[in-house]
Amino acid sequence: MTTPAYNFDTCPDRTGFGSLKWDKYKGRDILPLWVADMDFVSAPEILQALQSRLDHGVFGYTIPHEAPIEAVLHYLEREHNYAARATWLNFLPGLVPAINLCCHAFTKPGESVMTATPVYPPFLSAPDYAQRELIKVPLCLNPDDQWTLDLDAMEAAIQPNTRAFILCSPHNPVGRVFTREELIAVADFCERHDLILISDEIHCDLVFDATAKHTLTATLSESIAQRTITLMAPSKTYNLPGLACAYSIIENPQLRARFQKTIRGIITEVNCFGYAGITAAYSDGEAWHQALLAYLRNNYQLLYDFVQAELPGITFRPMEATYLAWLDVSRLGLKDPLAHFEQHGVGLSDGTPFGAPQHLRLNFGCPRSRLETGLKMIKTALS
Ligand SMILES: Cc1ncc(COP(=O)(O)O)c(C=O)c1O
Repeated sequence: MTTPAYNFDTCPDRTGFGSLKWDKYKGRDILPLWVADMDFVSAPEILQALQSRLDHGVFGYTIPHEAPIEAVLHYLEREHNYAARATWLNFLPGLVPAINLCCHAFTKPGESVMTATPVYPPFLSAPDYAQRELIKVPLCLNPDDQWTLDLDAMEAAIQPNTRAFILCSPHNPVGRVFTREELIAVADFCERHDLILISDEIHCDLVFDATAKHTLTATLSESIAQRTITLMAPSKTYNLPGLACAYSIIENPQLRARFQKTIRGIITEVNCFGYAGITAAYSDGEAWHQALLAYLRNNYQLLYDFVQAELPGITFRPMEATYLAWLDVSRLGLKDPLAHFEQHGVGLSDGTPFGAPQHLRLNFGCPRSRLETGLKMIKTALS
């Protein structure tokens, strides 16, 4: 297959479109390299599909129908070797509401939910919003200096009232693609302690390291599949978060019934453009996806080399997936790292809501020239 040329080097101006990423700094001279939203225009195949849905002209209530269902099932089989069934799927307008609703569906007040930190902030707020206790277990470094789940600390922290573990795989923000062995260890932990495994795998198609391979948790074994709630979406990979289209996969009929009962009357249907977007992304987006991964790989290399050569005060460990770089800035001795870099023109994500103050997350899902500009400003901010 020859890869068509896609342009990731130039992007439209996003100001004035209600962009969360860009409007945060509206009127201020700050380059936004925060939030998990890339600056790239969508794949032409997706634009075409949305255009033809628009041309139809009728935008009535839309239910899950054959095209998106078939697209998801084929994608799961083709890309992740997962023979899922249509009845296991629930389409959702987002994974953040899904994480919150999972806490309601699978735990009771007074019970606890465990997760590993640092992590995507809604993992930390969802148990609290549901008035469940949160047990946070820090990730640790393995002998190869890579972040991994600390099984010993998880064993030590588990409580008799713990009912669920929320896993981020691949991991936001540390960018790890957990190996099959690491995932089996988490699965065993969940089975040993009779936990529901809420597995957010939204970043699973953003693996840019050719030596890493993502394994869907539910494909590890029949028994772990029976206690896993898989949360997925094309929104990170294809840069479609504004279309609000995600889905859960729940094999176990009892768990599925509990989830469906909890979301009833609360969660709206995905809108017609979300369905058109997911169908086109999964059916026709593969060439764009491969070109994106090549672009991200180069951006990552540029960033990694720059940090090692020019920013010795920042610790940045190698990563395998996502477009979100996790920077340990603790050695810089800054009182408020986020504010410091904003004062020098770069908007990053603060580590504190991820459970790790003195860290910053940098989004490199942007044109290379923009990344270079941001890096120069970071260097100036430290000189
Ligand atoms: C791990 C993870 N889950 C969920 C989301 C957001 O999902 P949604 O936009 O579908 O609510 C993000 C966004 O960054 C994420 O990183």
